[in-house]
Amino acid sequence: MCNEKHPIIVAIDGYASCGKSTMARSLSRYADYLYVDSGAIYRAITYYCIKNSFFTKDKDGEIDTRLLGLKLSALNVGFKRLENNTIHTVLNGEDVENVIRLTEVASLVSRVAAIDIVREHVTLICRSLGKHRGIVMDGRDIGTVVFPDAELKIFVTASPTTRARRRFNELKDRGQYTDFHIILANVIERDRIDSTRAIAPLCQAPDALLLDNSNMSLDEQQAWLVAQFDRAVAKNAPCILK
Ligand code: CDP
Repeated sequence: MCNEKHPIIVAIDGYASCGKSTMARSLSRYADYLYVDSGAIYRAITYYCIKNSFFTKDKDGEIDTRLLGLKLSALNVGFKRLENNTIHTVLNGEDVENVIRLTEVASLVSRVAAIDIVREHVTLICRSLGKHRGIVMDGRDIGTVVFPDAELKIFVTASPTTRARRRFNELKDRGQYTDFHIILANVIERDRIDSTRAIAPLCQAPDALLLDNSNMSLDEQQAWLVAQFDRAVAKNAPCILK
């Protein structure tokens, strides 16, 4: 019988606003696993850079990596669960969940995420969160770099227009109205930077399952996800021969 429970790592990577976080969150509830949105950590660091004027104004918003390097190890990014069960990102004690989703952060985050010292720092945070396994993490390089040994890897994609529409609705629900075309341009630009950067570029791991959810309902997506998860858990459980 192969029924012993052994926690696994689920890595969900993919393009901007393709619903990775929704998938990861719902699967973590089903599995009773920790959920980590690695993009939120990059966003929190970007917010910190904006707040502390690390972007030089004269050179098209270039970032002062020397200053950032000095501060990085003292940055404390974590997550807290609210009473209504939602998870908020916390930066040095400040709840930054809403501000890190603003267009200002979204338009700069991919440039911050391309910096080597930032990636090294965030990768260490992510690995320490997953050291006991039993985690669902979403991002761009989770299956390729952070947890190349993840038992279940999923690479998600959908058309840019579908993704921009989803982000538009998500922001609207939060009361953050943003022009649809600005969101679409941001989604396309982030995909470009994320896929072409030198370090840990966004790409599908060879052993990742590809999911195009453009025409999938949330229920269909969840059913597919749960089936993949159950299969990965069963495969991971040691066989006890009687
Ligand atoms: O939710 P959405 O797909 O819009 O993006 P996110 O997961 O919040 O990530 C924001 C940005 O962080 C991405 O566009 C990437 O530039 C960066 N990121 C990354 O480089 N590596 C990760 N593992 C996660 C995010």
